[in-house]
Amino acid sequence: MTDRYAVIGHPVAHSKSPLIHGLFAQATGQDMHYGLIDAGPAPGAFAGALAAFRAAGGRGMNVTLPFKLEALAAADVASADARLAGAANALRFEGDRVEAQNFDGLGLVRDIEVNMGLPLAGRHVLLLGAGGATRGALLPLARAGAARIHIANRTAAKADALAAELAPHMRDCALSGGGLDTLVPGEVFDVVLNATSASLDGDTLPVPASAFAPGALAYEMMYGQGLTPFLNLAKAAGCARLADGVGMLVEQAAEAFAWWRGVRPDTRAVLARLAVPLA
Ligand code: ATR
Repeated sequence: MTDRYAVIGHPVAHSKSPLIHGLFAQATGQDMHYGLIDAGPAPGAFAGALAAFRAAGGRGMNVTLPFKLEALAAADVASADARLAGAANALRFEGDRVEAQNFDGLGLVRDIEVNMGLPLAGRHVLLLGAGGATRGALLPLARAGAARIHIANRTAAKADALAAELAPHMRDCALSGGGLDTLVPGEVFDVVLNATSASLDGDTLPVPASAFAPGALAYEMMYGQGLTPFLNLAKAAGCARLADGVGMLVEQAAEAFAWWRGVRPDTRAVLARLAVPLA
């Protein structure tokens, strides 16, 4: 029997997940169908759609905005990444149990380390923003061996609070937080990640050119927008390694696929198909 999976969100029509998982299923010969569920805006819509999908024999789901918090709350068990991110982006139904994971941060790490060939061990990382995207990235970046992570956010107090909350979970990684305008002068970073939504508004972040170490990677977590204001800023600062979040998207999908199906798909062909040139 064909196993059923889906991505749930609102709105969700723009999601690339059905395309990605369809290509993975084809390449690995898995008998599965991957659909799209728009649960709508009504209170309780997520819980209702989740129950209906499970009752119809669904095996697992990806979860996107605005339901990632509710997805974690609906789970009987959750991974450490999901718990510390405070959000789930993948669910698996095992008997009457709902299991939750958050693969966004791991997808980011795999994209940087495997696809871009940049080991994170010992690196200094600057994370711009203190919302859900940053929260999900922190633990996986630290686990990959980043020596230092600084969170810089427009609202400094949010970055401070997030750093204070997550610091006890980081063993060998120095974590700090502060305002966007209070980067320590002279401090340089090997990886600068934009986890804010500033580029959506066309806003440029006040990151000084001096913050990019020679050979630094500038990574825009949004994807498919070409050269965003952040990537333009990095380019103008002399940064030659630029990336957007398409690799993170494809790698988190591969992690979910492997978790559901027990086989990890090759991501290269899918990446090549979805990538938008950064020029
Ligand atoms: P997500 O869950 O996608 O991370 P979020 O929780 O709404 O989204 O967080 C968005 C982040 O982008 C926040 O860190 C926000 O900064 P504030 O905490 O000060 O609101 C940041 N952000 C959004 N628009 C921005 C802009 N124009 N300039 C700088 N930071 C911006």
